[in-house]
Amino acid sequence: MSRMFNPKVFQLGYVGLGCTDLGRSAQYYMETLGLTETAKGHLGEIYASVGYEHHNVILTKAAHKSLLQLGFQLKPAIDLADFAKQLNAYGVRSAVKSDSQPGISKLIEVEIADGHTVQFYRDIEAPAPGFKNVGVAPLRLGHVAVISPQAAKLRKFYEEFLGFWYTDEFEGIATFLTCNRDHHVINIVDIPESRVHHIAFQLKDSVSHPNACDELRRAGIKTEWGPSRHTAGHNLAGYHYDPDKVLIELYTEMDVFIPELGMCEARPWHEHFPMKPRAWKLTELNAWGTDFAFNLGQG
Ligand SMILES: [Fe+2]
Repeated sequence: MSRMFNPKVFQLGYVGLGCTDLGRSAQYYMETLGLTETAKGHLGEIYASVGYEHHNVILTKAAHKSLLQLGFQLKPAIDLADFAKQLNAYGVRSAVKSDSQPGISKLIEVEIADGHTVQFYRDIEAPAPGFKNVGVAPLRLGHVAVISPQAAKLRKFYEEFLGFWYTDEFEGIATFLTCNRDHHVINIVDIPESRVHHIAFQLKDSVSHPNACDELRRAGIKTEWGPSRHTAGHNLAGYHYDPDKVLIELYTEMDVFIPELGMCEARPWHEHFPMKPRAWKLTELNAWGTDFAFNLGQG
């Protein structure tokens, strides 16, 4: 019987990146990836939407490339004040911020581990700027993979406090967790470094993969790995770098997790039936056997 927590959040809403050259990053995220700028903040930071919500990416000028924040949207039934009390009871310090960013009137900020700041909010404006007809133009922000020397602490918070489900791992080094039907919403990598490993956007369909690669090529961006099929999550995934060498994943066909059954919906390409959470070997990153260097340990 799988543990039946009830996650307090239901999606990764946004990722905040510190960018060394804001103009260059804005050009990549708006023109090549195909997001739409919705606002500029007090500090000149840029808010960008995939197509519906006020923002899914925040770009802030910084001395070094960095992951500044992750935004998770709380389930509508959760009251922000109650959530803050629960954090306090769990022993985590939080700060309530009002009007700290456009589109979100109130959020709760927590530094779960060094360099891992998470913002929780219930409501975000949805100006629906629309999906671009140019650039990669993904469907949505799907997940993030973070590398942390405090991976165990992060995992405990996500599983124990937020109620994420464990869905897979690679030899205890990379752990996949979800708060919805996607196989993973966060992937926590246990290596003594602190950085974002990759940010993943879902494409419209699998035919969009070559189109995205062509779009990247037109912008002079090389596709580093894939598109090819993973094992854990079974997503068809291609990877390239943003201007600060933050790895960006474009994916489709991710496994659909059924928390009630503790398994993923069966697919013809699965290696195991039922497809339950398991410990994969690091040599099993790729289902097709295509070469898949995954630059763990390279900043
Ligand atoms: Fe990924």
